[in-house]
Amino acid sequence: MEQRRRILVTSALPYANGSIHLGHLVEYIQTDIWVRFQRLIGNECYYMCADDTHGTPIMISARKQNIPPEELISKMYTEHLRDFSAFRISFDNYYSTNSEENREFCEYIYSEAKQKGAIYEKEIEQYYCEHDGMFLPDRMIKGICPRCKAEDQYGDNCETCSATYDPTELISPFCAICGAKPIIKKSTHYYFKLSNFTNELREWVSQDHLRPEIKNKLQEWFTQGIKDWDISRDAPYFGFKIPGTENKYFYVWLDAPVGYIATTKNWCKSKGINFDEIWRGKDFEIHHFIGKDILYFHTLFWPAMLMVSGFSTPTKVNIHGFLTVNGEKMSKSRGTFMNASDYLKHVDPEFLRYYYAAKLGAGVDDLDLNLSDFVFRINSDVLGKVVNIGSRLGKIVNKKLNNALGEIDAQGASILDEMRKALPKIANYYETLDYNKAMREIMPLADIVNKYINDTAPWELVKTDEKKAQSVCTTGLNGLYLLTGMLKPVLPRIAEGVEKFLNIPSMNWESLKKPITQHKINEYERLAERIELSTVEKILGTKQES
Ligand code: 2FM
Ligand code: ZN
Repeated sequence: MEQRRRILVTSALPYANGSIHLGHLVEYIQTDIWVRFQRLIGNECYYMCADDTHGTPIMISARKQNIPPEELISKMYTEHLRDFSAFRISFDNYYSTNSEENREFCEYIYSEAKQKGAIYEKEIEQYYCEHDGMFLPDRMIKGICPRCKAEDQYGDNCETCSATYDPTELISPFCAICGAKPIIKKSTHYYFKLSNFTNELREWVSQDHLRPEIKNKLQEWFTQGIKDWDISRDAPYFGFKIPGTENKYFYVWLDAPVGYIATTKNWCKSKGINFDEIWRGKDFEIHHFIGKDILYFHTLFWPAMLMVSGFSTPTKVNIHGFLTVNGEKMSKSRGTFMNASDYLKHVDPEFLRYYYAAKLGAGVDDLDLNLSDFVFRINSDVLGKVVNIGSRLGKIVNKKLNNALGEIDAQGASILDEMRKALPKIANYYETLDYNKAMREIMPLADIVNKYINDTAPWELVKTDEKKAQSVCTTGLNGLYLLTGMLKPVLPRIAEGVEKFLNIPSMNWESLKKPITQHKINEYERLAERIELSTVEKILGTKQES
């Protein structure tokens, strides 16, 4: 038998100042399917995540609501966890970056970096708002685009002409918080000497941690030259103070990924698992799942921070694209914005998991949620092809066959064998994140089972030949068993419903190899309901003026 793999998995930590939306869920669902698959095939797999709680926007948001940032993040924590649980995202630990463990690890990594000569100080000039008494990050300063002259553009890029620039180039800059004209002020910042790690990073990138197109992107960055990283921010700031300073804080992007480690540490304590085995040993694989917008942080800054402090570097960084809705960017002004909690009011979370799985490949392509296609696929695949088997056969076995499964005849055995033959291929698609291919492999198997049921018509057969009808139902329900087992990483609730209905222990990849015969099952309870486009459209946010 192959050795059981030991795997730690993370998704990017969502900011604590916004609700979870359907765009976020692409990542959590992608990760969760992979995690559940690993557990299903018998690997040891732990899933860590947390709220990303620090930084200026969260501080400002709390100020606007007149509450301390701690109160804001605690409120959001509860909301995030509620949404994730509803979508069955199976974290082993969901924590917060505003934790003592995280502070300690940040300080440790910083002191290691300092000791190794990888930290230096530099005086820089930045916009400062005298009214708010703070330096303004790029996104908190607005003005006229220096290139196309569009008004009301952020300090780092123009949404009209896509130009990127330095905030000091903006024409007529003003503070995005209070509207005042900012001044330029000097301040000393702490820098992480990323350039010291160019060779080590090149070596890491050349190994098998990233997909080829991502490696190419990184080559471009190496060619442009690796720039050092400003890791400090001035007070007032919601975050961790840098040891040995009066009023300097770690930039949120330093403490956020350290949250992966801190969350693990917090979990290890309560589980009695050896933390060093995970983050300092060779036994554990570490897999990060992120969106393409935060590639730089996870493939350059983060590995360098791990290298300087002696933690394990990532085994894989998996990168996905963005969500579009009906072919457009998800946006409040277009009326295409969908919050997780709004979705949950109207539609079964299991359906979004299936739809994303059916559309997700291993690459960074964007994924389109087309609402009519969504309704069609759910009704046709999940309801029409899978759930339908249970409702058709459940009725017969419950009402006419005394809840008993019998034997499988030669024709049935050959159908089930054919299905089982697909298991390795499907497993491989899950492993490589080609979920769309896995779904395309599974659904034709459902067609075979449905055709068999249609051809044999057990509802007729049961009137004349109970034994034969029982054998057909036994094959059909073993087909359902195999299908829901194969889909269990994607449809965990429906799979649990089938386990209850078939009166069997929790299925796993290994158990799928053995048929269920001569066995009493339970009353069939509906596993899912068909959906209508008009219901799904209720999730869409109402159009807002931008
Ligand atoms: O981009 C974001 O939403 C960040 N909050 C992700 C942080 S991921 C990790 F580094 F913590
Ligand atoms: Zn201001």
